[in-house]
Amino acid sequence: EESAMELGGEQGRWEEERLKTASLSFGAKKERELGMRHEQDKYQLILEEEEMIDFVSTAITMKGTQADKDQEEPSLSQAEQKKQSMQEVRRSLPIFAYREDLLSAIQQHQILVIEGETGSGKTTQIPQYLLETGYSEGGMKIGCTQPRRVAAMSVAARVAQEMGVKLGNEVGYSIRFEDCTSERTVLKYMTDGMLLREFLTEPDLASYSVVIIDEAHERTLHTDILFGLIKDIARFRPDLKVLVASATLDTERFSCFFDDAPVFRIPGRRFPVDIFYTKAPEADYLEACVVSVLQIHVTQSPGDVLVFLTGQEEIETCCELLQERCRRLGSKIAELLVLPIYANLPSDMQAKIFSPTPPGARKVVVATNIAETSLTIDGIIYVIDPGFCKQKSYNARTGMESLIVTPCSRASANQRAGRAGRVAAGKCFRLYTAWAFKHEMEESTVPEIQRTNLGNVVLLLKSLGINDLIHFDFMDPPPHETLVLALEQLYALGALNHLGELTKLGRRMAELPVDPMLSKMILASEQYKCSEEVLTIAAMLSVNNSIFYRPKDKMVHADNARMNFVVPGGDHLVLLNVYTQWMESGFSTQWCYENFIQFRSMRRARDVREQLEGLMDRIEVEVVSSPEDSVPIRKAVTAGYFYHTSRLSKGGYKTVKHQQTVYTHPNSSLFEELPRWLIYHELVFTTKEFMRQVIEIDSAWLLEVAPHYYKSKELEDSSSKKMPRKQGKAKEELG
Ligand code: CDP
Ligand code: MG
Repeated sequence: EESAMELGGEQGRWEEERLKTASLSFGAKKERELGMRHEQDKYQLILEEEEMIDFVSTAITMKGTQADKDQEEPSLSQAEQKKQSMQEVRRSLPIFAYREDLLSAIQQHQILVIEGETGSGKTTQIPQYLLETGYSEGGMKIGCTQPRRVAAMSVAARVAQEMGVKLGNEVGYSIRFEDCTSERTVLKYMTDGMLLREFLTEPDLASYSVVIIDEAHERTLHTDILFGLIKDIARFRPDLKVLVASATLDTERFSCFFDDAPVFRIPGRRFPVDIFYTKAPEADYLEACVVSVLQIHVTQSPGDVLVFLTGQEEIETCCELLQERCRRLGSKIAELLVLPIYANLPSDMQAKIFSPTPPGARKVVVATNIAETSLTIDGIIYVIDPGFCKQKSYNARTGMESLIVTPCSRASANQRAGRAGRVAAGKCFRLYTAWAFKHEMEESTVPEIQRTNLGNVVLLLKSLGINDLIHFDFMDPPPHETLVLALEQLYALGALNHLGELTKLGRRMAELPVDPMLSKMILASEQYKCSEEVLTIAAMLSVNNSIFYRPKDKMVHADNARMNFVVPGGDHLVLLNVYTQWMESGFSTQWCYENFIQFRSMRRARDVREQLEGLMDRIEVEVVSSPEDSVPIRKAVTAGYFYHTSRLSKGGYKTVKHQQTVYTHPNSSLFEELPRWLIYHELVFTTKEFMRQVIEIDSAWLLEVAPHYYKSKELEDSSSKKMPRKQGKAKEELG
């Protein structure tokens, strides 16, 4: 059974195991007392929240222009041909054989759980089958949720193409800050968060005939909340069909939660995948990835390679290393196309991922775990899995949320391996030991609801009139202290009263599709008469860290360009300055290029800003400007983020409430200034706890904006005259 494989120069690096076709069974023969020695600290990176978003926008533009072209040129035969081949592809999907059975099961049951291998056609086909069967009669909508905005957009584009309609007409999508639907839309793809928000305007989802909760296995916070709400409304809306679609994971639990709803299984068409483990743990998984790709390229038969990494920075490094080594090997090896998938990637690069590999060459796609279940790339035969992913974690005591690189779950690893067996028998190389797989990985990923801040969701549920959150029908309840902390924070922000009921302010806050603190900041700008500026800051903060462009070969120029934007007071004001100057340039691309600013991020900030500005009417905030003085702006920031206050102390800063030591991020405009009091936008862990996006405040403002949260005693300066020695010492240490 066990065969050692020779790959390139490294003999017997791998242990082989065969992944059974139908059921995934592992069971390592040789167990080793070796742990995963991955130097985790080194890999603690920060997730770009908007990761991948641009990638899909361009994919859609691309597809859009293709469709437009077809319409322009009335070469009927060609268009007809294309449509036909599209129909052929549809009929070739595994789900097609079950079309009638599936439709009749849906007819018979109000709630149905649907399980099927990734790529079997659940997301793209089921809604179309429903449309073809008349579920949209009378203008009723079919809604399908996706945990990732990327997936919602790309799937909608694909389905519009299959149906030969323009995206945004019959088929559309809705994601935060972007609504691509119209009056005519009957098939609506959307993020789970967007459907959740629809409950605010339509508590019984009356305009929907079918709701599909897709990718249910991902168990995102919003999907979990949807489970509870939809189960509830299904009771008094017997005409509403509910479909819970999931990869082959955990479907019994869904069935159980939905009062033993039947499970419809779509048998997968899957080729066997051989699994290889490293014999010893890898100290540097990035390096191991590079070596493995080259080994595959040199020794293995044709077929493309998919590498799973955790984020953009890693992906870039990996691609650079690969290209560099290929250059050195020159004509000694066949052509290797190295293609990354991450957010700020030029569109021509993105198109390449889906275009077929030229004969004689091999394609390597280096992706985040978007390629795990949400996105299918054809032609993959080899998968390289370092076994890591980036995960949100939450400390309910301090209320601190962070993103850290952690080992992925066994379920995830199996999904990744499965990507190798879609078109032919494949191979999956795991950069960890069989022992680690068995003993060090969690069985499945902990649902997001148990490791995130709940402020947003609690505010939303409260505005839906759900007051008793403890008894909400959670599939897996959140930790009690997390729930309590969310309630406390909302109370401190003034969104809830002492009875835990929604206040008028809370109701207005819930109208904005942003986190409660950001919402509060925007609402506070009304009082300080600076909503114009605060809206810009809110938009810039929500595009998150991808404003400044810093290419490796022009770092000095980039840093100088960045310095030119610095204004006194802090990073929020620097962001405001960047946006204002860009606006004055007429939103110019050239201007961005010259100033080392990412145009895509700016464009997105502009979109977000427009959306937010459009909502100001509804929450009755007048859009006015305070261009001369930064104090009102900084007070508005303080009104939202007073939770995030830190005070200068020996060697760094200490958070006021929890006395945790934190540091100004080296990229901050206040890195060298060390003001006594700071408000930070977020905390991130890399080498230490850094505050990212900080602004200088006066401690007296805290009493002004949050008198029920801060006591003046807490805010007394530790460097008051009573303790002259301490002050001297602090100064000394700070140089
Ligand atoms: O949802 P599920 O994973 O079961 O499958 P799907 O997303 O409906 O994909 C069915 C087929 O459509 C696959 O062969 C995908 O490659 C293809 N597809 C595509 O070409 N472009 C997309 N944006 C989405 C799916
Ligand atoms: Mg799907």
